[in-house]
Amino acid sequence: MRDGSGARLGVVGGLGGGGHREIAADGLSIIQSGSVSVMYSHQSTLREGMDLMTTHPSLAGNVVLVTGAGNGIGRAIAQRFASVGAIVAVNDVDRSNADSTVAAIAEAGGTAMAVTADVSNAASVASMIESVLAAHDRIDVLVNNAGLVEPMLHFFEADEAWWRRIVDVNLTGHFLVSHPTARIMARQGGGCIINMSSGGATRAHRAFTAYDATKGGIEALTRAMALDLGPYNIRVNALMPGSIDTSGLAVEQRELRGENVPLGRIGEPFDMTGAALFLASDDASYITGDVIKVDGGMLAQQRSATVDIKPPSDFPAIADL
Ligand SMILES: NC(=O)c1ccc[n+]([C@@H]2O[C@H](COP(=O)([O-])OP(=O)(O)OC[C@H]3O[C@@H](n4cnc5c(N)ncnc54)[C@H](O)[C@@H]3O)[C@@H](O)[C@H]2O)c1
Repeated sequence: MRDGSGARLGVVGGLGGGGHREIAADGLSIIQSGSVSVMYSHQSTLREGMDLMTTHPSLAGNVVLVTGAGNGIGRAIAQRFASVGAIVAVNDVDRSNADSTVAAIAEAGGTAMAVTADVSNAASVASMIESVLAAHDRIDVLVNNAGLVEPMLHFFEADEAWWRRIVDVNLTGHFLVSHPTARIMARQGGGCIINMSSGGATRAHRAFTAYDATKGGIEALTRAMALDLGPYNIRVNALMPGSIDTSGLAVEQRELRGENVPLGRIGEPFDMTGAALFLASDDASYITGDVIKVDGGMLAQQRSATVDIKPPSDFPAIADL
């Protein structure tokens, strides 16, 4: 059986005992929760170097600008757009990161260009937009992905410079890139903007005051932009990633984080890409001002599985249903 997120579920057998998890040699993580044993496939990591698979009818040939696409979620989204025939402008503040994403896309048969810029700097953004227009003459989709998490500081350790840097990159960066891009889209007859929120917009992380405030701001910005830009046929939505492993966590950390997720595993960058494609496509032509959660169910839960009143280890075995 395959669920919507791409994780493969299969009952291994009626196994007693408390919650226990193993990673098998084939990359499957076998979770034995009391009498239920579930296999989660981490197949999404296997798609890192995905080949050009098929073209998407409403995205092939589109020019897509993805910010912060030199690593993690942005890189996966850039690769996925390229895999369906879009032309991708790969932005990052770090040139070598951007170049490495472009090389991966080219190797898979896609089309991409690197555009280095700091999204928090208006002049830098202007020259990035100029380069994209000089090469492709249009921008159909903008994915405002660039964001800073670090450094994490307790409220009492924080200072004004920390606050301003995180707000500048995460929130002001969304505005600075969207502003000229939306004007181009309006002149073209329309476009699509995807902003990058976080669970922190709704429920806080410890030591993330500036980050969480920017993510709340991004969700409000998304709704406000959707209203102002709707008449120009520009749709504006946001994605809300859950816990996505973009830094290569150790196996133990992945497992620990996964236990807090209703789908039983931490997310991979590839998990974010389907929703991005959907929002940019004609299939989402009547969706704007919305936030799509891609979090394995994290925000849907009140307590984590490990401390809930009836934990998954007490769930009925499928064999008994
Ligand atoms: N990873 C998660 O679990 C998670 C969860 C919720 C939200 N998000 C959001 O998703 C987005 C991507 O996260 P990630 O984990 O892939 O991040 P990452 O740190 O792995 O990658 C971010 C990329 O952005 C680039 N960047 C940083 N500052 C920039 C700037 N000023 N201008 C241009 N590029 C810049 C970095 O060089 C890096 O390549 C962020 O907005 C983040 O807040 C991530």
